[in-house]
Amino acid sequence: MDQSTVTPRLAGKTLVVTGAGQGIGKAYAARLAQEGAEVLLVDINEQAVAAAVADLKAAGLAVAGRVADVADPRSVQRLAESLRPAHPRIHGLINNAAVFSTIKLASFWDIDPEQWDKVMAVNVRGAWLMVTALLPQLRAAGQASIVNIGSDAVWMGKPGYLHYVTSKAAIYGMTHGMARELGADGIRVNTLSPGFTTTEVPRDTFTQAQLDGIMNAQAFKRLADAGDMVGVAAFLMSDDSRWMTGQTFHVTGGLLFR
Ligand SMILES: NC(=O)c1ccc[n+]([C@@H]2O[C@H](COP(=O)([O-])OP(=O)(O)OC[C@H]3O[C@@H](n4cnc5c(N)ncnc54)[C@H](O)[C@@H]3O)[C@@H](O)[C@H]2O)c1
Repeated sequence: MDQSTVTPRLAGKTLVVTGAGQGIGKAYAARLAQEGAEVLLVDINEQAVAAAVADLKAAGLAVAGRVADVADPRSVQRLAESLRPAHPRIHGLINNAAVFSTIKLASFWDIDPEQWDKVMAVNVRGAWLMVTALLPQLRAAGQASIVNIGSDAVWMGKPGYLHYVTSKAAIYGMTHGMARELGADGIRVNTLSPGFTTTEVPRDTFTQAQLDGIMNAQAFKRLADAGDMVGVAAFLMSDDSRWMTGQTFHVTGGLLFR
């Protein structure tokens, strides 16, 4: 087959990735742009998003950055309004922003209530606010795709961060409800649920013994990195997944079989 006739599957799409200043979010943005999309990277960390955009632009990719706090309705509304003139159609959104790598492990009876509320506000309310604010542009695109990022920590009941595990559990229900309410608009909504995934960001939430335990429990005997997640995200942003909605994609190297 003549490969020169194959159009990159995300060509012509404008896609938004939140929490894209670092880690897996930045890797999603890179892969989506490599597959032909124009990608808007959103993050609360101004320096991180600027550096990520500079990196990806240096690689020749079509990206732009925006600073926003997904937990803050005014910030999200400002973001949506600032995007509307140049981007009246948004073909996909990955709700990836979360309080995650900064979490300190604690027994649930020691979690500070303010920290609990912060995790819920970013990880749960943030995804809902982003979809709500971008709905006019998502509807205008026709066949838009929303991916909410869950976590298989929910299915393991990983100890030490009950606020995080509880917040991610809400994502699966949010996906189901949104998929039903947006189906008539042709908008699909799915959950990508990573297992433990290494990134360039150091974190001390797993001991070596726990990492060994994860590797033993997985069918594949190595730890995942962000590169193991991005192809599934690209598939879900592409028209190849157009008949799938309300589903969970466990990208875990075979941690649990459901
Ligand atoms: N890395 C893993 O092992 C793993 C496993 C399962 C699920 N996940 C999920 O995948 C996603 C990415 O994980 P990661 O390891 O790259 O996390 P990370 O903590 O390295 O990155 C999170 C990003 O979100 C941004 N962010 C935080 N609060 C924000 C806010 N209020 N508004 C906008 N941006 C905000 C941060 O600035 C950061 O750039 C998260 O949703 C995480 O819960 C990660």
